[in-house]
Amino acid sequence: MTPKLIKEEKLRNFINGKWAAPSSEKYADVVNPANLATLVQVPLSSMQDVEKATSAAKKAQKDWALVPAPQRAEILFRVGVLMKEKKETLSQLLTMENGKVIEEARGEVQEGIDMAFYMAGEGRRLFGQTTPSELKDKFAMSVRAPVGVVGIITPWNFPIAIATWKSFPAIVAGNAVVWKPATETPIMAFELAKIFEEAGLPEGVINVVFGSGSTVGEAMIEQDDIRVISFTGSNEVGRTIAGKCGQRLKKVSLEMGGKNAVIVMDDADLTLAVEGILWSAYGTSGQRCTACSRVMVHESVKEQLEDRLQNEIAKLTIGNGLDESIKVGPIINKNGLEKIKSYIQVGKEEGAKLLSGGHVLKDGNHAKGNYFAPTLFTDVTPDMRIAQEEIFGPVVSLIPVKSLEEAIEINNSVEYGLSSSIFTRDVNQVFAAQRDLDTGIVYVNAGTTGAEIHLPFGGTKGTGNGHRDSGVAALDVFTEWKAVYVDFSGKLQRAQIDVE
Ligand code: UN1
Repeated sequence: MTPKLIKEEKLRNFINGKWAAPSSEKYADVVNPANLATLVQVPLSSMQDVEKATSAAKKAQKDWALVPAPQRAEILFRVGVLMKEKKETLSQLLTMENGKVIEEARGEVQEGIDMAFYMAGEGRRLFGQTTPSELKDKFAMSVRAPVGVVGIITPWNFPIAIATWKSFPAIVAGNAVVWKPATETPIMAFELAKIFEEAGLPEGVINVVFGSGSTVGEAMIEQDDIRVISFTGSNEVGRTIAGKCGQRLKKVSLEMGGKNAVIVMDDADLTLAVEGILWSAYGTSGQRCTACSRVMVHESVKEQLEDRLQNEIAKLTIGNGLDESIKVGPIINKNGLEKIKSYIQVGKEEGAKLLSGGHVLKDGNHAKGNYFAPTLFTDVTPDMRIAQEEIFGPVVSLIPVKSLEEAIEINNSVEYGLSSSIFTRDVNQVFAAQRDLDTGIVYVNAGTTGAEIHLPFGGTKGTGNGHRDSGVAALDVFTEWKAVYVDFSGKLQRAQIDVE
């Protein structure tokens, strides 16, 4: 029996520091993907709730921006301390609503804690530049100014980590936030809002509005007072958001899909490569945007790698992630399962050879949840759809290659550019690969996942639109650069003219 970690039957929105039922009075069930038990109900809010949240945010932001940044940061620091105190409960709730195994859930909550302490440090930095002026007795500098009210839209696969990547930099920089979490995983947002409240964040600085993308997300885009939308999710939705925000001259930061590859060279430590592939391909059941879904393997070690991977896949335990012995949890919902299933069919029709898995699990306890067997295809060619399209499930395609150059070319041939990895002991190959792999993240002798919060997170090409979550780069999304010139000469000095 799992302890009852959540008292509420119905979650409420958090608007202007108050917990409020949605004006629509509509709700949807939130289901544990491990056993299909209903955990709680999530509001399906309407446009009015978004309007209320936006005007609360607008009002709160004026005062919040005037609070000295180190004091804003102290509240974030308290958020980090509270998250640390509640880490185990948060992790269990995360496993229950998302399905990822408890060890990974703890890692994800830790990622949020790390972000709190890191961004709390930014309260005493938020660096701009001071620079000489071209004129006498004139001072010039650039400062980061908050943009005002920002909208964040977060996904179900990392419901707490990604929320912290976006909300913490926004808040420390002096913005107020309207946040739409994914309806599949609202408990993390509910818990984080409670933590903000307990940490003493002034009312209205963060507002959580639960609901669908088509209603709540859409309403956020339509609010003139929301000046930035930061979104993580699918390409299809991201492109639509970008189009609408473009029309409204709204800044938009997108972090979307991936088709991430591991390259295994002939001199690689194969034991390490197998571990790296398993962790990045089947962790979170492959439902990461950084998941490894392609392996370009040097032909001379192809058979060895196939054998070793098959052996290790057979040992993976699949089930409810609250059980510490389980290595792979469920898939988020039936739609996810169907999509993965359809790609198995595609792979078979395209002529790929199925070595492991490839089916929904229905035996024993698996029948109660959404489980898919960790899957391995081999003899995949780079042009096959299973080697090009994001599957978002535990499916890996092995593509044999003859050289590093060929592997890099294949890596770069997809529409995405999030993460890539190379296993080799050759330092020359390492440096050539990190230069030539066209992805926002490159790993050497590690899988395709494992981003740390103080580095920029995001990708090239179809993965995004040039912005980055996480790291100091996240501040660029949530601030405007302001150039400030102070003339203390007492006379009119014209730039470019009075310079002789
Ligand atoms: C995502 O998949 O959307 O490095 C985020 C990683 C995690 C974050 C992934 N820390 O894979």
